[in-house]
Amino acid sequence: MRDSFGRKIDYIRISLTDRCNLRCKYCMPEEGVKLLNHEDILSYEEILILAKIFISLGIKNFKLTGGEPLVRRDVCNLIKELKKLEGIGEVTITTNGVLLEDYGKDLIDSGIDRINVSLDSLNPIKYEKITGRNLLDKVLGGIKLLLEHDFEKIKINTVPMRPLDREDIENLINLGKDNPIDIRFIKVMPIGIANSELGYSKKELLQIIESILGKSSHFDGKKGNGPAEYYSFQNYRSNIGFIDAIDNKFCSECNRIRLSATGFLKLCLYYDLGENIRPYIYSLSENELREKIKDIIYNKPLMHHMNESLIQRDKKNMNQIGG
Ligand code: GTP
Ligand code: 5AD
Ligand code: SF4
Repeated sequence: MRDSFGRKIDYIRISLTDRCNLRCKYCMPEEGVKLLNHEDILSYEEILILAKIFISLGIKNFKLTGGEPLVRRDVCNLIKELKKLEGIGEVTITTNGVLLEDYGKDLIDSGIDRINVSLDSLNPIKYEKITGRNLLDKVLGGIKLLLEHDFEKIKINTVPMRPLDREDIENLINLGKDNPIDIRFIKVMPIGIANSELGYSKKELLQIIESILGKSSHFDGKKGNGPAEYYSFQNYRSNIGFIDAIDNKFCSECNRIRLSATGFLKLCLYYDLGENIRPYIYSLSENELREKIKDIIYNKPLMHHMNESLIQRDKKNMNQIGG
């Protein structure tokens, strides 16, 4: 379907939980997080009812997020059921990788199309400083397991923060040199507790990366459903991508909406605009529900205003939104 600005909406990010087994500094406060109760969270049955409606509206690519989606029980069953739906496109997941050693094989068997792993440093001390947990080995073990099963659709999400070490970038990009792993650098966005002044723009990072890998060339192919812009390098197997919502705003091509763990259909990452559609599953007929959802999505805002004003922004933290 299209929104009121003519943008084609074909991608939905579904947050399965607000819980997480890490505490990344820019995402979730260490203390004082009020977590959702089990009964407030959409069941898999409810997600599947809504998924059929989204697909019928042309929203056929699904991203599962959290918090950390793999802390929710039986995620692989949900993926299997989603993949069975008629007309489904890609079902992908964005995980912090801590549980990949345990669930990686099941994820592959469930038919997951791609796996994005959040990983900000390969230095165990820095990793613990950023995430609050000493679990780097688990994440690396999980990535290794995916590679051992010849799973080739892996991306690393890195949110580099000042002060940044050239060595960290070098080590991270090395992962994609000979392995099928795209590395994406994300400029931290001023959502919830995050401060975007500590982030790095695409321009700054590309300069550092070119000084390591040599001249880049723009990659024009499609590499997923998200906003990343990709580059290729000589003697480098994968692609390096950038997501910079502030200096390289991509809202004019926005193709996505979000469904929170509680059933709030969120129209834009930046605003708290949208509506909780869970009650409509029970109060409306299938056709009425489809029309209702269509009307809500039609009013998706044109763009964020992260670079100008923070007044209108959603006050939630990223673990409640899912990125
Ligand atoms: P693929 O391209 O399919 O791999 O997925 P993706 O890049 O959409 O997913 P991922 O969950 O890995 O998100 C990467 C980063 O992009 C996260 O930091 C998200 O917050 C950010 N992001 C995704 N969609 C949007 C969006 O609509 N607006 C903004 N500002 N950031 C987004
Ligand atoms: N800005 C940008 N990216 C963020 N993520 C979490 N918080 C932020 C933020 N404030 C990233 C995570 C994960 C993805 C879903 O969103 O690192 O890779
Ligand atoms: Fe779309 Fe809002 Fe993200 Fe812009 S900030 S790309 S409009 S969801």
